[in-house]
Amino acid sequence: MKRLVILISGRGSNMEAIVQACAAEGWPATVAAVVSNRPDAAGLAFAAARGIATAVVDHKAYGSREAFDAELARVVDGFSPDLVVLAGFMRILTPGFTARYARRMLNIHPSLLPAFTGLHTHERALAMGCKVAGVTVHFVTAELDHGAIVMQAVVPVQPGDDAQALAARVLAAEHRIYPQSVRWCVEDALAWDGDAVVHHRGGAPQQLLLD
Ligand code: GAR
Repeated sequence: MKRLVILISGRGSNMEAIVQACAAEGWPATVAAVVSNRPDAAGLAFAAARGIATAVVDHKAYGSREAFDAELARVVDGFSPDLVVLAGFMRILTPGFTARYARRMLNIHPSLLPAFTGLHTHERALAMGCKVAGVTVHFVTAELDHGAIVMQAVVPVQPGDDAQALAARVLAAEHRIYPQSVRWCVEDALAWDGDAVVHHRGGAPQQLLLD
């Protein structure tokens, strides 16, 4: 059984989608813990109610990113993860932390990377007049919102969309591709081709086009 540790900062809907898919589909994996940098993260209650261990490492209690990341790593390592899953975890991580979990830490970002790294992705996509938007699951490297792409979903931008409407359409796609991506990892279905990631079992599509 692969051990997953999921890091959240808030609502935790992607974490929920992963927890539910893991149980419903019988993955060879267990969610060992959900860890938040915010004590008030709503997702902690969902995890606790499912009997999943929870922990909080409050970034406000640490004087530097290095000190916070050191404690976060200590807590995460305490759950012996095979895979660390960032699910709406809104902290910039130090190179030391990303190196520690190289090739075993995933992130989801609500844009079609490499476009719109960072914050306010939907507002920026609308301001640019983008005709499609989407979401990316990728392995984490020291560079923010970069790293090998596991899966992307593309959704249309509809006339009259505001950021909230677009975010909701993208979030529905997130809940499809993040569980799929994590499942591939726990099933060892992904292979590295240099710095890229390919699906090596029957070539399942790593893209989802929604309309
Ligand atoms: C999601 O839309 C996720 O893609 C985004 O935060 C939201 C978290 O929602 N992540 C980032 O912006 C990371 N840079 P959730 O807590 O309901 O999963």
